[in-house]
Amino acid sequence: MPEDSMEKTYTCTAPVNIAVIKYWGKRHEDLILPINSSLSVTLHQDQLKTTTTVATSKSFEEDRLWLNGKEEDINHPRLQSCLREIRRLARKRRNDDDPGLDSTCLSYKVHICSINNFPTAAGLASSAAGFACLVYTLAQAFGVEGELSGVARQGSGSACRSMYGGFVQWLMGHQSDGKDSLAQQVEPETHWPELRILVLVASAERKHVGSTSGMQTSVQTSHLLKHRAESVVPDRMVEMIKAVRGKDFTAFAELTMKDSNQFHATCLDTYPPIFYLNSVSHQVINLVHRYNSHYGLTRVAYTFDAGPNAVIFTLEQYISDFIQAVRHFFPALTNGGEFIKGLPVPHADLSEELKQAIGLEPMPKGISYIISTKPGPGPCVVKDPTQHLLGPDGLPKNTVKQDSHNRNRHKNCDGDITATL
Ligand code: DP6
Repeated sequence: MPEDSMEKTYTCTAPVNIAVIKYWGKRHEDLILPINSSLSVTLHQDQLKTTTTVATSKSFEEDRLWLNGKEEDINHPRLQSCLREIRRLARKRRNDDDPGLDSTCLSYKVHICSINNFPTAAGLASSAAGFACLVYTLAQAFGVEGELSGVARQGSGSACRSMYGGFVQWLMGHQSDGKDSLAQQVEPETHWPELRILVLVASAERKHVGSTSGMQTSVQTSHLLKHRAESVVPDRMVEMIKAVRGKDFTAFAELTMKDSNQFHATCLDTYPPIFYLNSVSHQVINLVHRYNSHYGLTRVAYTFDAGPNAVIFTLEQYISDFIQAVRHFFPALTNGGEFIKGLPVPHADLSEELKQAIGLEPMPKGISYIISTKPGPGPCVVKDPTQHLLGPDGLPKNTVKQDSHNRNRHKNCDGDITATL
């Protein structure tokens, strides 16, 4: 391949985020405008991240996409929205702001290759990291700068919050074109260094009802959701921002748990009801409340998204003690693998009084492993060219290069591409 036909290859990474004030319900399906604002914590990319490489070249005949090693359908509508929007912004920048910029690549086709460093099916909001990474990397490739959360939002609502590190709010906005429905950093990842996060992976099953279709049914049928969006969330957002800014763990933890519980209550109020929590999730909820009540202090909080895995927030000084309780009530089945992955957790002894006070029946194999992490930064550019996922020929390195069999596999399948991007 001649050198000038393989001009540009960019690789970036983007984080997962976990909402502590949940987004559930849209007022506009295509633009992805939510019925309430939401707030999340960005998780550290050392433990959980998506990596995406985008290459543009004169020699590419069509736009192509590979996700976690398999070629997928590039015509997914949300992916197309992001691509279209980035190309539009790139054209605008060249016309209005900087006519001197080279515009040749604008007509070139793109190859996109993306991988996650965590199991896609574990329900860890991979669509948020995936679309954030896609938009951030496309912006690098097409020379687009500035506010990009509004583009990421059009891939997946929660993805707009993954465009920033630390503590991030997504303002619902009020304009019908969605221009004011954007994410904003509330505090950076360095703001609360004692805050620690544990992802308790309860099951590797795929979620049964995807968030996109689940929230549609909730908007259509749940009065509780309407009440939540109009009368509960606005005050909660104010309180949550205050708790985060003041590093008030008790307030942060209680709001987080109440908001998760109300989100799952709206799922039950949906008709037909949606069940994301399972018996392991219920055991985690009981464990956290009994643990906190034993100490007479809110030391630990849980939150659950559209799946059974708990995400736990706690402070560094409590983590070893709490993990021992988790180990005791969920005896591990690790098959030789580690039970705790990620940031190391020092050993502590579990006191007999705590065991007695919690008093739950242990659930062997209820939790397959734990990912230990902390708040982290937003998307990053990977400068080292050896890290590109696409080779000089524009095809994925080390994966299935041409798999025509798989190319249309996930066509028209709600949630599938968005769950893996
Ligand atoms: C429960 O962002 O996945 O995780 O906008 O339809 O792609 P779409 O939905 P998505 O929904 C996330 C819902 C949630 C709560 C949250 O992250 O705020």
